[in-house]
Amino acid sequence: MAKTKYETHEHDVLIIGAGGAGLRAAIEASNEKLSVGLVCKSLLGKAHTVMAEGGVAAAMGNVEPRDNWKVHFRDTMKGGRFMNQWRMAQLHAMEAPDRVHELESWGALFDRTADGRILQRNFGGHKYPRLAHVGDRTGLEMIRTLQQHGVHLGIKVYMECTITRLLTDGQKIRGAFGYWRENGRFVHFKTKAIVLATGGIGRMFKINSNSWECTGDGQALAYLAGAELMDMEFMQFHPTGMVWPPSVRGTLITEGVRGEGGTLRNKDQKRIMFDYIPELYANETATTHEEADQWLRESTQEGGSKAKRTPDLLPRDIVARAIHAEVKAGRGSPHGGVFLDIATRRSAEDIKKKLPAMYHQFKELGDVDITTDPMEVGPTAHYTMGGIRVDSETQESRIKGLFAAGECAAGMHGSNRLGGNSLSDLLVFGRIAGLHAAKYARTADAPSSDDGEIDTAATEALAPFNREKGENPFLLHEELKDSMQTHVGIIRTEAELKKGIDELQALKARVSKIKVEDNRHFNSAWHQNFDMRNMLVCAEAMARAALARKESRGGHARDDYPDQDKGHFSKFNIVSKTNKAGDEMEIAEVALPEVPDEIKKILEEG
Ligand code: FUM
Repeated sequence: MAKTKYETHEHDVLIIGAGGAGLRAAIEASNEKLSVGLVCKSLLGKAHTVMAEGGVAAAMGNVEPRDNWKVHFRDTMKGGRFMNQWRMAQLHAMEAPDRVHELESWGALFDRTADGRILQRNFGGHKYPRLAHVGDRTGLEMIRTLQQHGVHLGIKVYMECTITRLLTDGQKIRGAFGYWRENGRFVHFKTKAIVLATGGIGRMFKINSNSWECTGDGQALAYLAGAELMDMEFMQFHPTGMVWPPSVRGTLITEGVRGEGGTLRNKDQKRIMFDYIPELYANETATTHEEADQWLRESTQEGGSKAKRTPDLLPRDIVARAIHAEVKAGRGSPHGGVFLDIATRRSAEDIKKKLPAMYHQFKELGDVDITTDPMEVGPTAHYTMGGIRVDSETQESRIKGLFAAGECAAGMHGSNRLGGNSLSDLLVFGRIAGLHAAKYARTADAPSSDDGEIDTAATEALAPFNREKGENPFLLHEELKDSMQTHVGIIRTEAELKKGIDELQALKARVSKIKVEDNRHFNSAWHQNFDMRNMLVCAEAMARAALARKESRGGHARDDYPDQDKGHFSKFNIVSKTNKAGDEMEIAEVALPEVPDEIKKILEEG
């Protein structure tokens, strides 16, 4: 007989996380005529998806008819430095246009070309203008559309609910346990299948673009339930976050600014990116201002430009490191970034029309008028390419009935994601995960439940209240952010990573001693206790995987191994999993899947 008091809700499929991937998965599972529950720790619509501002990447060829899925696939694999699960990148490139058109049919209002098709803009690492957009508020429009569509399908939404544990019988999913944030009462979801779609982990860095929800919940829940994490060393630092004023440091400045012609300059007003063109992109990147300017003028006209792309739109890992190097060399802006100038190229009217959110963001938060003055920008932790290891066809993890989609899943982006590929990722793989979770649920046995497992989860959840004294979770979070920024940041070394791992181990011991005061009614320290547990799982996986990968590739740069390895490390993904005893993290190399000849041919054509 259970000691714990809790309420139970039962669904065929439970989706945890209500951003773009979660909503899209819920819609698909619901289309399969199953009972679907959607749980989020925040309010519906308050999703980090809205921070993908500049657009959704899909090779529709509306602006450049030469674009097609093969070119998109190639760009994605190249951007990820070939660490991607090729099949995911292929599915993504092939299905993205359908997902965008579907979204339009559900009511999304994209910007239009002169003849009424969906307009597409340039973004880093994409050969052609490919990002369907709604000004610089694309993610917001996407969430609004998915939310409205999903609610009308009758999906049951559970808001402000923290899931603390996934429930399994050791092999397969049978539920989830958590509490209502408002009153602290426990809740049990009985379900055959779960899709994790909880997003990223950026809140473990001091300077980040992420909203408060991004604490690695899905990754940690899956790991604690026995799933594997993969590619956790690959962290994307978006090149352009705000650097001033300090209160908004890290807030995203969309890559759309550079897509619309913005250029990066140092304190001497020199354009910086011409000095940082890597060999991999040398053939297609302009080395003179004239050529770059010609490309910008011509690339959004039908027929395309014969000139080479501007280096300001190289992939994010390259641009972020270039900015870091300029600042380190003493050529940065007054507050430790560089300048991003759009006023020189674009009229005030254009800027307000194309980049309205950026205009208001700088006016209101920084007292800067971007129609006349440059922005100060610097790298900000934005997106994790790593996450839960899933099957490329179904998005299922190694636990039966446990699926993952969107940022919390790994594989699609390899070592570096191209801008705009996150919104298309969450539409494509949200759908696939929802579909396969529904298929699984249709044939799975009714889930059992085990009072002992629930009692254990409840005891764990209440432990911070029962200690006489202990640690403050908010102060521990500050220490975690400092540690990650300093030792596991944009440039890494063995010595720094080892220091970071030692600090994380010490923090882990202290997190197990957190003391929470008062009662369970909207207790933010209690919420923070679980966020800390989850972030620490992800932080440790990132630091250990980064130590293991002795090369530099995409979102993982080692000062002591500055080159991309063409041998050993180009053949493996790194996975993090619990050891047999279940009390320590193990790191292992797993071979990248073999690329079939017809896919190799597509890659070589580029
Ligand atoms: O820069 C941006 O608008 C962000 C887009 C993305 O991360 O895909």
